[in-house]
Amino acid sequence: MWSFVLLLVIFPAVSTAHGGGDHHQELITDLNQAREFLASYNESLSVLEYEATLAGWEFSTNISDHNEQKEVEANLVYAAFINEAGQNASRFDDTTFPDDVRRRLSKIRDIGTAALDSAKVEELNELINSMTDNYSTGTVCRPENASVCLQLEPGLTRVMANSRDWNELVWAWEGFRDRVGVPNKPLYARYIELSNEAARLNGYPDTGAYWRSYYEVEDLVGQAYKLYNDILPLYKQLHAYVRGIMHKTHGDKVDIKGRIPSNLLGDMWGRFWGNIYKQVLPYPDTPDIDVTDTMVAKGFTPLRMFQLADDFFASCGLKRVNQKFWNYSMLEKPSDGREVVCHPSAWDMGNEQDVRIKMCTEVNMEYFQIVHHEMGHIQYYLQYADLPTSFRDGANRAFHEAVGEVITLSVATPTHLSHPDVGLLNDTMGEVDSQETDINFLLKTSLNTIGTLPFSLALEQWRWDAFAGTVEQGKWNERWWQLKHDLVGVKAPVDRTEEDFEPGAMFHILVDYSFLRYFIRTIIQFQFHKGLCDAAGHTGPLHRCDIYKSTAAGDKLAHMLKLGSSKPWPDAMEAITGQRSMSADAINDYFAPLMTWLEETNRKNGETIGWDSGGVVYSMSLTLLLACMLVATYAV
Ligand SMILES: *[C@@H]1O[C@H](CO)[C@@H](O)[C@H](O)[C@H]1NC(C)=O
Ligand SMILES: *[C@@H]1O[C@H](CO)[C@@H](O)[C@H](O)[C@H]1NC(C)=O
Ligand SMILES: *[C@@H]1O[C@H](CO)[C@@H](O)[C@H](O)[C@H]1NC(C)=O
Ligand SMILES: *[C@@H]1O[C@H](CO)[C@@H](O)[C@H](O)[C@H]1NC(C)=O
Ligand SMILES: *[C@@H]1O[C@H](CO)[C@@H](O)[C@H](O)[C@H]1NC(C)=O
Ligand SMILES: *[C@@H]1O[C@H](CO)[C@@H](O)[C@H](O)[C@H]1NC(C)=O
Ligand SMILES: *[C@@H]1O[C@H](CO)[C@@H](O)[C@H](O)[C@H]1NC(C)=O
Ligand SMILES: [Zn+2]
Repeated sequence: MWSFVLLLVIFPAVSTAHGGGDHHQELITDLNQAREFLASYNESLSVLEYEATLAGWEFSTNISDHNEQKEVEANLVYAAFINEAGQNASRFDDTTFPDDVRRRLSKIRDIGTAALDSAKVEELNELINSMTDNYSTGTVCRPENASVCLQLEPGLTRVMANSRDWNELVWAWEGFRDRVGVPNKPLYARYIELSNEAARLNGYPDTGAYWRSYYEVEDLVGQAYKLYNDILPLYKQLHAYVRGIMHKTHGDKVDIKGRIPSNLLGDMWGRFWGNIYKQVLPYPDTPDIDVTDTMVAKGFTPLRMFQLADDFFASCGLKRVNQKFWNYSMLEKPSDGREVVCHPSAWDMGNEQDVRIKMCTEVNMEYFQIVHHEMGHIQYYLQYADLPTSFRDGANRAFHEAVGEVITLSVATPTHLSHPDVGLLNDTMGEVDSQETDINFLLKTSLNTIGTLPFSLALEQWRWDAFAGTVEQGKWNERWWQLKHDLVGVKAPVDRTEEDFEPGAMFHILVDYSFLRYFIRTIIQFQFHKGLCDAAGHTGPLHRCDIYKSTAAGDKLAHMLKLGSSKPWPDAMEAITGQRSMSADAINDYFAPLMTWLEETNRKNGETIGWDSGGVVYSMSLTLLLACMLVATYAV
């Protein structure tokens, strides 16, 4: 299969160092031998990783049995190497070695699912392939015409983004889950077993615990729930405002004091609410900062969108992508009949000369922002390309996700869109620089940031529970909706039972991709934004800052990106923000004017804030050990 499996194969856990190893063998204390081992590891890995990632690329951009087979084979070779290298790394007693050598060795000992025997590595890859196939190729047919059938991209996605017809939204929502979620359930159950087995072989109680260990902090779960509580007042205001408008459109289908039906939020999962912006727009008589129509009118192409993104990075003194990127990336859905995995992703082929993006770009503002997101991953790859392979990764996974989002915060500002170099907005329609435009902009930005935070936490909490076995398989869907009800304040548009399986229709769940990264990145991207805007000498409200052409901001960002994962993430955070911890202060500052506006508007409209919540109970004991990972692919 494709590169998420590559990811999976190399998902490292700590460590044969603690449990494994040959007790009869003397541990090696010679630093020179360690350095030799690291050099040879680095050389071999560059080659093997490239081969495995390339096989993944071939499969994702051309789904076929043949390409799947080749991908599985390449991953077996790769996994065998990772496993052997992990054992070799455990033969060193590294207590007297310098920090960077110890850190590299510990990353190599971290072998993830390569700890499984090869039959199980293969089985796991095939499971993920089958689930992804179901996801990418599944179709839902129109009730009125069974010969009109839509895949997720672009068909069902467009319905979820644009339709305001309740029945059509239920049809797409339910149909996709029937067609993809339900068939994936037995496969997912087996995936959980194998994934947990790998985690245990590496010294963790289950995969959730293993994933949390990447963050190298104590009480990660407690910190995440604290951040959730810090943004909850703003989320509840936004939620009430959106619910009030949906109630006007859909009447009794939306309980004015209750939870929002999740088919009304602009995408298949209720994850990103950006597509409902036109429905919830505060001030319609102002320049349209959703520049989709202008992009279309001006003849924008996917290529042009990527070129503009490249220009933005270059304007801050950051790196441009190379010619190979333009030659090998898949920027649009192929029209030659190939099946592809459309979910946007950015690829580091494991060889510093070759980075690529795969996505089925459409010309609209949402995709314009996704383009910047993926280009942020690429920028990270380019900046840390000189590091040894073990350090070529984000400071943590959330950092990797935050880079493109930080750029997007500048790119989407009305000031930037109306810059002559971009030309997507001008003030013939009215003041770009007005308080009303500010509120429109903040509301629009909040839909994909504030609006998505509880979603991300609830999703990952469900997986932590499923991995840990604290929720039994017979109650998987019930737990899913319980978390949605309590944490997110949304509900299913139609009755659900244990015959259904919502998690099986969510990309990141199927491809073994941890999700807390999206929660944390949404918090820290605002800390980064503030740090970069300070460097750029920005004055005035934070939400008006555009770092375009600021090499001071670019230098600061580059300095952090170049660290890769060579240092614990608080060092990287400090390089850019001066702070060493995660905090919701920056995101709350950024949205302060919107908070005031929402409070007034909701009060005026007589909205009830919040929803009936049963309160959330969680408890978890964590074993936190030093662990990081090597990553070849990042998604949106
Ligand atoms: C897709 O893969 C098949 C092998 O399964 C190959 O024959 C075909 O040429 C590939 N198509 C493209 C466009 O690369
Ligand atoms: C592991 O060590 C053995 C013995 O030194 C060596 O032959 C082998 O190439 C090493 N393998 C890896 C992947 O480091
Ligand atoms: C169903 O859709 C097909 C393909 O678009 C079209 O040719 C056919 O006329 C439609 N049938 C009906 C009954 O609308
Ligand atoms: C979809 O899931 C089923 C299991 O329910 C599996 O047998 C099948 O292979 C999957 N479909 C594809 C196209 O992989
Ligand atoms: C990119 O493609 C062009 C045109 O096909 C070719 O001339 C050039 O050598 C390629 N460059 C790279 C780096 O692959
Ligand atoms: C790691 O290997 C790559 C590819 O051979 C090489 O370019 C790079 O210099 C090596 N880095 C180190 C630190 O050994
Ligand atoms: C400003 O926008 C209007 C309407 O979209 C357009 O007709 C006009 O050409 C634009 N002016 C500039 C300078 O881009
Ligand atoms: Zn991403």
